[in-house]
Amino acid sequence: MTAANGVVSTRIIRAAGRLAVVVLGGAIAVGAGIAAIMAVAAAETGDTGGLPAPREHFALPDPAALDGPAAEAAYRSVRPSMLAAYQLSRDPITRRYPSWQRYNDVPYLSKQHGRRYVNIYANPAAAYGDFELGVGYPPGAVIVKDSFSVAADGARYPAPLFIMERLAPGASPATDDWRYTMYLPDGTLFGTTDGAGSDKVAFCADCHKKAETGTGMFFPPTARRR
Ligand code: HEC
Repeated sequence: MTAANGVVSTRIIRAAGRLAVVVLGGAIAVGAGIAAIMAVAAAETGDTGGLPAPREHFALPDPAALDGPAAEAAYRSVRPSMLAAYQLSRDPITRRYPSWQRYNDVPYLSKQHGRRYVNIYANPAAAYGDFELGVGYPPGAVIVKDSFSVAADGARYPAPLFIMERLAPGASPATDDWRYTMYLPDGTLFGTTDGAGSDKVAFCADCHKKAETGTGMFFPPTARRR
């Protein structure tokens, strides 16, 4: 499958319950277990903070360390291809979120989300900018995290899209009434908690339920918030 502007092509390989995304024609090939597609986290740092440690490591061990302006410049250059590819999913959220407020100043490396550079957007209903002061989220609140990778040689690649949608009270006790959805960087649905691939994204809720805020929200690192 070829992403909209041909920047990156991905091939999805499913085998024995594992999923690998192979970035063709690029400098990197990434093979990852289901857990590892997003979570590098704590097993590497030893700092689990009580969160479930991922079972495997994402195979981009040496992402480029960019300062804020460089991370922002990288994002601006790769964002059009990210958006075009996410929108292949035909999920309306992928068209809406680019105009929502972004709650981080510059992209930051997320250890829990596959060591990608990430950005967090939320719709007005989410009142996400209250950060810890938030007292809960009404049905219809949507928080989106987009992501991209920067390899050590500077090459930039779209990476998955992570979505949390607040459902009606009681709609999904297993996820504390959040729907978790993840799209691969070519717009393919990886899984959504109340639909296809739900087993593959159950671990989203397992970790987010442990957020100290008690609302499922972790929020960006303090230094990156705005
Ligand atoms: C190992 C723990 C862990 C797992 C598993 C995890 N997350 Fe997160 N998530 C975090 C942390 C920590 C943050 C905030 C810091 C950051 O961005 O890295 C976050 C932030 C987010 C946000 C922004 C809202 C917020 O909490 O502030 C969304 C949306 C999100 N994750 C979606 C997902 C989805 C969808 C999945 C599953 C495909 C998932 N997450 C799996 C730990 C996790």
